[in-house]
Amino acid sequence: MKKIQIVILAAGKSSRFKSSKHKALHDLLGKTIIERISESLINIKLKDYEFALHFVLGHQKELLINELKNKNIKFSFSEQIEQLGTAHALQTALKDIPNCDGLLVLCVDTPLIKTKSLENLILETINSNAELAVLTTTLENSFGYGRIIKDSNNNLKAIIEEKDANTLEKQIQEINSGIYFFNFKTNKLLDKLNKIKNENIQKEYYLTDIVKIFNQDNLKVITHKIIDSNEILGINSKKELSLCIKILSQNRIQELENEGVIFLSPESCLVSPETQIGQDTIVYQNNTFIGKNKIANNCEILINNFIFDSEIGNNCKISSSYVSQSKIANNCSIGPFANIRINTFLEEGVHIGDFVETKNVKIGKDSKASHLSYLGDAEIGSQVNIGAGTITANFNAISGEKHKTIINDGVKVGSNSVFVAPVKVAKDCMIAAGTVVDENVEQEASLIISRNKQKIKENWIKK
Ligand code: UD1
Ligand code: MG
Repeated sequence: MKKIQIVILAAGKSSRFKSSKHKALHDLLGKTIIERISESLINIKLKDYEFALHFVLGHQKELLINELKNKNIKFSFSEQIEQLGTAHALQTALKDIPNCDGLLVLCVDTPLIKTKSLENLILETINSNAELAVLTTTLENSFGYGRIIKDSNNNLKAIIEEKDANTLEKQIQEINSGIYFFNFKTNKLLDKLNKIKNENIQKEYYLTDIVKIFNQDNLKVITHKIIDSNEILGINSKKELSLCIKILSQNRIQELENEGVIFLSPESCLVSPETQIGQDTIVYQNNTFIGKNKIANNCEILINNFIFDSEIGNNCKISSSYVSQSKIANNCSIGPFANIRINTFLEEGVHIGDFVETKNVKIGKDSKASHLSYLGDAEIGSQVNIGAGTITANFNAISGEKHKTIINDGVKVGSNSVFVAPVKVAKDCMIAAGTVVDENVEQEASLIISRNKQKIKENWIKK
């Protein structure tokens, strides 16, 4: 087995990003930038080669390490204490990694790169017996990127950074992705990198200058051009972050459309790559799907929903609602304006209407809570009707503890009732409107009423 080391440069402070948080920790539809790029890298598979990930960390190093560990990513890292440029970052890594047959180098801020494109880059370098390949693309607006300078034979001569480029060079549309494959023993590479100087506008050691060094030493350098320029979008600003999210989402929407989902206004929706949606489901405008969602067939996702890490069965209808970390069975209808919070489990045919909040609750088949309720820490049976304004008072403000309400099958709860948990009500009971239920009801089919009798004081106003 030959070994290829993958080095991801992530030590920079990213001052252009203007954030107190490292740019690689920002979210891309449910996963951080560093997690997304790591996933593309972990999936690289080539016959006879094995791969290992190594990060160059500096700015907010601990936070990045925690993120990688939390996501179970196997990696090693070097610390670049002073960030003197991308070549200096790679030098730092080379001092720590074992000798390998090849080296793939990327910047952490290019998370849309696809596994297949990286495999193609490596294969082309090896097959053309080149020692170095630079992944490039052509952009209509190449502002900000290193420009690819070629000689009359179309050979790569140098890469010139935006800040160092003259007017003519700035017009070049072929750009450096910041992704390189060295088909070169890594223990010999450090000598080459040591020749790089910081004689440029930014006084940084640019990794891009390795091209000139390899050319001087008669090593073969090629460019490998990628067609879909979106894949190498570098995130250096908030604007580029939002562009990246848009691309990721639109790619997923296109895939889902090909699988039979109808998007009435695709450009107004955000859909994470981990969202699955079944055939004939219609998605109206302004819907956001973040994280890992599984939405089945024939649903109507009407306007303005936010759906996060949730499962939704067939034939469900959801309108202007928030659904988070919950599981909804077939034929349910939700909203408008419902707040379905963590650990809500709705069985088939449940209806949750406007201004109903649910959390940590199981609601049985064909039950309804149509208006203005809070149902938390509860188990509600099937065919239960929850009247408008019903509250499960789950929180004891003195002990700080939460308690459970159990409402069995067939119970009809009158409007404006409160269940003071812990409390249990037997099957088929009827709770009169305005009742405070604070004692268990063991007997099925009872009437529970706790109202004061209404008084009418005649002529009271006139008097
Ligand atoms: C870099 C390339 C540019 C290319 C572009 C593609 C250089 C000099 N320029 O520019 O040619 O078109 O990427 O997106 O390489 N980093 C370190 N240590 C440092 C400096 C940077 O680890 O001392 C890391 C950063 O955290 C970042 C990456 O290297 O992840 C690239 O740095 P960045 O400042 O984004 O470079 P660009 O200006 O985008
Ligand atoms: Mg960058």
